[in-house]
Amino acid sequence: MNPFDFFAVMERYHSFQNPTSEAKLDLVMEYCGIRNGMRILDVGSGKGWLLRRLARRFDVRITGLEISHIFADEARRLIVEENLQDRITIVEGPAQTFRAEAESFDIVTCIGASFALGDKGSGLSNYENALDWMRRYARQGGSIVIGEVFANVHPLPDSLPRNRDYDVPLLWTLVEKMRQRDLYLRGLVESSLDDWNHYHSLHWQAAIDWALENPKSDEVAQLLDPARQRLEIEADGRLINWAVLVARNGLPHRELKCLG
Ligand SMILES: C[S@@+](CC[C@H](N)C(=O)[O-])C[C@H]1O[C@@H](n2cnc3c(N)ncnc32)[C@H](O)[C@@H]1O
Repeated sequence: MNPFDFFAVMERYHSFQNPTSEAKLDLVMEYCGIRNGMRILDVGSGKGWLLRRLARRFDVRITGLEISHIFADEARRLIVEENLQDRITIVEGPAQTFRAEAESFDIVTCIGASFALGDKGSGLSNYENALDWMRRYARQGGSIVIGEVFANVHPLPDSLPRNRDYDVPLLWTLVEKMRQRDLYLRGLVESSLDDWNHYHSLHWQAAIDWALENPKSDEVAQLLDPARQRLEIEADGRLINWAVLVARNGLPHRELKCLG
Protein backbone atom coordinates (compact mmCIF):
# COMPACT_ATOMS: atom_id res chain seq x y z
CA MET A 1 0.00 0.00 0.00
CA ASN A 2 1.48 3.42 -0.86
CA PRO A 3 1.93 5.81 2.10
CA PHE A 4 -1.07 7.98 1.14
CA ASP A 5 -3.48 5.02 1.03
CA PHE A 6 -1.87 3.57 4.15
CA PHE A 7 -2.47 6.70 6.22
CA ALA A 8 -5.93 7.22 4.74
CA VAL A 9 -6.85 3.76 6.02
CA MET A 10 -5.06 4.01 9.36
CA GLU A 11 -6.31 7.52 10.14
CA ARG A 12 -9.90 7.19 9.00
CA TYR A 13 -11.15 7.59 12.57
CA HIS A 14 -8.80 10.46 13.52
CA SER A 15 -10.27 13.95 13.46
CA PHE A 16 -6.76 15.35 13.96
CA GLN A 17 -3.72 13.24 13.15
CA ASN A 18 -1.30 13.84 15.99
CA PRO A 19 -0.93 12.50 19.55
CA THR A 20 -2.30 15.44 21.55
CA SER A 21 -5.79 16.45 22.61
CA GLU A 22 -8.30 19.15 21.69
CA ALA A 23 -7.54 21.05 24.90
CA LYS A 24 -3.78 21.00 24.23
CA LEU A 25 -4.23 22.24 20.66
CA ASP A 26 -6.43 25.07 21.98
CA LEU A 27 -3.69 25.97 24.45
CA VAL A 28 -1.13 26.05 21.63
CA MET A 29 -3.19 28.63 19.77
CA GLU A 30 -3.59 30.67 22.96
CA TYR A 31 0.21 30.73 23.27
CA CYS A 32 0.30 32.26 19.77
CA GLY A 33 -1.98 35.07 20.91
CA ILE A 34 -4.42 34.27 18.11
CA ARG A 35 -6.96 36.99 17.38
CA ASN A 36 -9.26 38.29 14.67
CA GLY A 37 -7.60 39.52 11.50
CA MET A 38 -4.61 37.17 11.63
CA ARG A 39 -3.24 35.27 8.62
CA ILE A 40 -2.26 31.66 9.26
CA LEU A 41 -0.33 29.14 7.15
CA ASP A 42 -0.54 25.43 8.08
CA VAL A 43 1.85 22.91 6.50
CA GLY A 44 0.52 19.34 6.20
CA SER A 45 -3.00 20.34 7.19
CA GLY A 46 -4.50 16.84 6.97
CA LYS A 47 -8.28 16.88 7.44
CA GLY A 48 -8.10 20.52 8.54
CA TRP A 49 -9.32 19.99 12.08
CA LEU A 50 -7.19 22.79 13.56
CA LEU A 51 -7.97 25.19 10.71
CA ARG A 52 -11.71 24.65 11.04
CA ARG A 53 -11.59 25.03 14.82
CA LEU A 54 -9.75 28.35 14.49
CA ALA A 55 -11.96 29.63 11.69
CA ARG A 56 -15.11 28.89 13.71
CA ARG A 57 -13.82 30.99 16.60
CA PHE A 58 -11.90 33.82 14.93
CA ASP A 59 -12.24 35.96 11.85
CA VAL A 60 -8.94 34.74 10.39
CA ARG A 61 -7.61 33.88 6.90
CA ILE A 62 -6.03 30.44 6.78
CA THR A 63 -4.10 28.59 4.07
CA GLY A 64 -3.59 24.84 4.51
CA LEU A 65 -1.00 22.95 2.44
CA GLU A 66 -1.79 19.27 1.96
CA ILE A 67 -0.25 16.74 -0.44
CA SER A 68 -2.75 13.90 0.01
CA HIS A 69 -5.72 14.16 -2.31
CA ILE A 70 -7.76 12.06 0.13
CA PHE A 71 -7.12 14.34 3.13
CA ALA A 72 -7.37 17.56 1.08
CA ASP A 73 -10.76 16.42 -0.25
CA GLU A 74 -11.98 15.50 3.21
CA ALA A 75 -10.85 18.89 4.55
CA ARG A 76 -12.59 20.76 1.71
CA ARG A 77 -15.80 18.77 2.26
CA LEU A 78 -15.84 19.64 5.97
CA ILE A 79 -14.98 23.29 5.28
CA VAL A 80 -18.01 23.60 3.00
CA GLU A 81 -20.21 21.66 5.44
CA GLU A 82 -19.25 24.16 8.17
CA ASN A 83 -19.55 27.12 5.80
CA LEU A 84 -15.97 28.26 6.36
CA GLN A 85 -14.92 28.67 2.70
CA ASP A 86 -14.39 32.43 3.13
CA ARG A 87 -11.82 31.86 5.83
CA ILE A 88 -9.93 28.72 4.74
CA THR A 89 -8.18 27.76 1.50
CA ILE A 90 -6.64 24.32 1.00
CA VAL A 91 -3.76 24.23 -1.48
CA GLU A 92 -3.25 20.67 -2.67
CA GLY A 93 0.32 19.60 -3.50
CA PRO A 94 3.79 19.37 -1.97
CA ALA A 95 4.26 22.15 0.59
CA GLN A 96 7.66 23.09 -0.82
CA THR A 97 6.13 24.25 -4.10
CA PHE A 98 3.97 26.81 -2.27
CA ARG A 99 4.94 30.42 -2.91
CA ALA A 100 3.80 33.54 -1.07
CA GLU A 101 5.35 36.84 -0.08
CA ALA A 102 8.00 36.56 2.63
CA GLU A 103 6.79 37.37 6.15
CA SER A 104 3.17 37.45 5.01
CA PHE A 105 1.69 35.29 7.83
CA ASP A 106 1.18 36.01 11.54
CA ILE A 107 1.32 32.32 12.46
CA VAL A 108 2.98 29.46 10.56
CA THR A 109 2.16 25.98 11.85
CA CYS A 110 3.47 22.52 10.98
CA ILE A 111 2.02 19.89 13.27
CA GLY A 112 3.58 16.50 12.59
CA ALA A 113 4.79 17.23 9.06
CA SER A 114 8.34 18.62 9.30
CA PHE A 115 9.44 15.84 6.90
CA ALA A 116 7.38 17.66 4.23
CA LEU A 117 9.88 20.53 4.40
CA GLY A 118 13.04 18.41 4.53
CA ASP A 119 15.97 18.89 2.16
CA LYS A 120 18.23 15.83 2.08
CA GLY A 121 21.12 17.72 0.43
CA SER A 122 21.26 20.41 3.13
CA GLY A 123 23.01 18.34 5.79
CA LEU A 124 20.36 19.56 8.26
CA SER A 125 17.53 17.60 9.88
CA ASN A 126 13.98 17.86 8.56
CA TYR A 127 13.16 19.81 11.72
CA GLU A 128 15.86 22.42 11.00
CA ASN A 129 14.82 22.67 7.35
CA ALA A 130 11.22 23.13 8.50
CA LEU A 131 12.17 25.95 10.88
CA ASP A 132 14.11 27.74 8.11
CA TRP A 133 11.23 27.34 5.65
CA MET A 134 8.57 28.47 8.15
CA ARG A 135 10.58 31.52 9.27
CA ARG A 136 10.58 32.85 5.74
CA TYR A 137 6.80 33.14 5.80
CA ALA A 138 6.26 34.36 9.38
CA ARG A 139 6.35 38.08 10.10
CA GLN A 140 8.78 39.43 12.68
CA GLY A 141 7.15 39.03 16.09
CA GLY A 142 4.76 36.41 14.68
CA SER A 143 4.64 32.77 15.76
CA ILE A 144 6.06 29.49 14.51
CA VAL A 145 4.27 26.37 15.77
CA ILE A 146 5.88 22.99 15.23
CA GLY A 147 4.85 19.52 16.45
CA GLU A 148 7.77 17.12 16.71
CA VAL A 149 8.96 13.91 18.34
CA PHE A 150 11.80 13.97 20.82
CA ALA A 151 13.70 11.38 22.88
CA ASN A 152 13.00 11.10 26.61
CA VAL A 153 16.24 9.16 27.02
CA HIS A 154 19.46 9.58 25.11
CA PRO A 155 20.79 7.52 23.49
CA LEU A 156 17.71 5.41 22.76
CA PRO A 157 18.27 1.74 23.72
CA ASP A 158 19.74 -0.43 20.95
CA SER A 159 16.91 -2.94 21.46
CA LEU A 160 14.41 -0.41 20.06
CA PRO A 161 13.31 -1.43 16.54
CA ARG A 162 14.70 1.16 14.09
CA ASN A 163 11.82 1.08 11.65
CA ARG A 164 11.16 4.81 11.59
CA ASP A 165 13.30 7.15 9.58
CA TYR A 166 13.35 10.29 11.67
CA ASP A 167 15.96 11.78 13.99
CA VAL A 168 14.96 11.73 17.63
CA PRO A 169 16.78 14.55 19.46
CA LEU A 170 16.24 15.67 23.04
CA LEU A 171 13.61 18.34 23.72
CA TRP A 172 16.24 20.92 24.61
CA THR A 173 17.96 20.27 21.26
CA LEU A 174 14.72 21.22 19.50
CA VAL A 175 14.59 24.47 21.49
CA GLU A 176 18.30 25.15 20.88
CA LYS A 177 17.83 24.79 17.10
CA MET A 178 15.10 27.42 17.41
CA ARG A 179 17.28 29.85 19.34
CA GLN A 180 20.04 29.48 16.73
CA ARG A 181 17.49 30.87 14.26
CA ASP A 182 16.30 33.79 16.37
CA LEU A 183 13.15 31.87 17.38
CA TYR A 184 12.23 32.15 21.08
CA LEU A 185 10.14 29.52 22.82
CA ARG A 186 6.94 31.07 24.18
CA GLY A 187 4.79 27.98 24.73
CA LEU A 188 5.07 24.22 24.98
CA VAL A 189 2.66 21.30 25.24
CA GLU A 190 3.69 17.66 25.57
CA SER A 191 1.73 14.51 24.93
CA SER A 192 0.74 12.27 27.82
CA LEU A 193 0.76 8.49 27.67
CA ASP A 194 -3.04 8.67 27.42
CA ASP A 195 -2.76 10.98 24.41
CA TRP A 196 -0.48 8.46 22.69
CA ASN A 197 -2.73 5.53 23.60
CA HIS A 198 -5.76 7.34 22.20
CA TYR A 199 -3.88 8.22 19.00
CA HIS A 200 -2.73 4.63 18.47
CA SER A 201 -6.01 3.03 19.59
CA LEU A 202 -7.68 4.78 16.64
CA HIS A 203 -4.94 3.34 14.37
CA TRP A 204 -5.36 -0.19 15.73
CA GLN A 205 -9.15 -0.15 15.44
CA ALA A 206 -8.92 1.18 11.88
CA ALA A 207 -6.45 -1.58 10.92
CA ILE A 208 -8.66 -4.30 12.42
CA ASP A 209 -11.80 -2.96 10.72
CA TRP A 210 -10.03 -2.73 7.34
CA ALA A 211 -8.71 -6.29 7.73
CA LEU A 212 -12.24 -7.55 8.48
CA GLU A 213 -13.61 -5.65 5.47
CA ASN A 214 -10.79 -6.89 3.16
CA PRO A 215 -9.89 -10.34 4.52
CA LYS A 216 -8.33 -11.56 1.26
CA SER A 217 -6.03 -8.57 0.76
CA ASP A 218 -2.23 -8.95 0.97
CA GLU A 219 -2.14 -5.49 2.61
CA VAL A 220 -3.59 -6.88 5.85
CA ALA A 221 -0.11 -7.98 6.97
CA GLN A 222 1.23 -4.42 6.58
CA LEU A 223 -1.67 -2.91 8.50
CA LEU A 224 -1.40 -5.40 11.36
CA ASP A 225 2.44 -5.41 11.40
CA PRO A 226 3.54 -6.44 14.93
CA ALA A 227 6.90 -4.58 14.68
CA ARG A 228 5.07 -1.26 14.25
CA GLN A 229 2.70 -2.02 17.12
CA ARG A 230 5.61 -3.02 19.35
CA LEU A 231 7.29 0.32 18.73
CA GLU A 232 4.00 2.12 19.44
CA ILE A 233 3.62 0.24 22.73
CA GLU A 234 7.23 0.20 23.95
CA ALA A 235 8.51 3.51 22.68
CA ASP A 236 5.76 6.08 22.17
CA GLY A 237 5.05 8.08 25.29
CA ARG A 238 7.76 6.19 27.20
CA LEU A 239 11.11 6.50 25.38
CA ILE A 240 9.93 8.88 22.69
CA ASN A 241 7.52 11.72 23.22
CA TRP A 242 5.91 14.46 21.20
CA ALA A 243 5.65 18.18 21.79
CA VAL A 244 4.13 21.17 20.11
CA LEU A 245 6.54 24.09 20.44
CA VAL A 246 5.46 27.67 19.94
CA ALA A 247 8.15 30.26 19.23
CA ARG A 248 8.16 33.98 18.66
CA ASN A 249 9.88 34.89 15.40
CA GLY A 250 12.67 37.29 16.38
CA LEU A 251 13.14 39.80 19.17
CA PRO A 252 13.99 43.50 18.79
CA HIS A 253 17.71 42.98 19.50
CA ARG A 254 18.66 46.65 19.40
CA GLU A 255 16.11 47.44 22.11
CA LEU A 256 17.09 44.44 24.25
CA LYS A 257 20.58 45.56 25.15
CA CYS A 258 21.71 42.29 26.70
CA LEU A 259 21.05 40.35 23.46
CA GLY A 260 23.29 42.69 21.45
C1 LIG B 1 0.89 13.42 10.73
S1 LIG B 1 -0.20 14.19 9.58
C2 LIG B 1 -0.66 15.67 10.47
C3 LIG B 1 -1.90 16.33 9.90
C4 LIG B 1 -2.37 17.58 10.67
N1 LIG B 1 -1.33 18.57 10.80
C5 LIG B 1 -2.89 17.19 12.03
O1 LIG B 1 -2.15 17.38 13.02
O2 LIG B 1 -4.02 16.70 12.12
C6 LIG B 1 0.91 14.82 8.33
C7 LIG B 1 0.20 15.42 7.14
O3 LIG B 1 1.17 15.98 6.25
C8 LIG B 1 0.78 15.67 4.92
N2 LIG B 1 1.99 15.74 4.06
C9 LIG B 1 2.97 14.81 3.93
N3 LIG B 1 3.91 15.24 3.06
C10 LIG B 1 3.52 16.46 2.63
C11 LIG B 1 4.05 17.42 1.72
N4 LIG B 1 5.21 17.19 1.09
N5 LIG B 1 3.39 18.57 1.51
C12 LIG B 1 2.19 18.82 2.15
N6 LIG B 1 1.63 17.94 3.02
C13 LIG B 1 2.29 16.79 3.27
C14 LIG B 1 0.19 14.28 5.04
O4 LIG B 1 -0.59 13.92 3.93
C15 LIG B 1 -0.60 14.41 6.33
O5 LIG B 1 -1.88 14.91 6.11
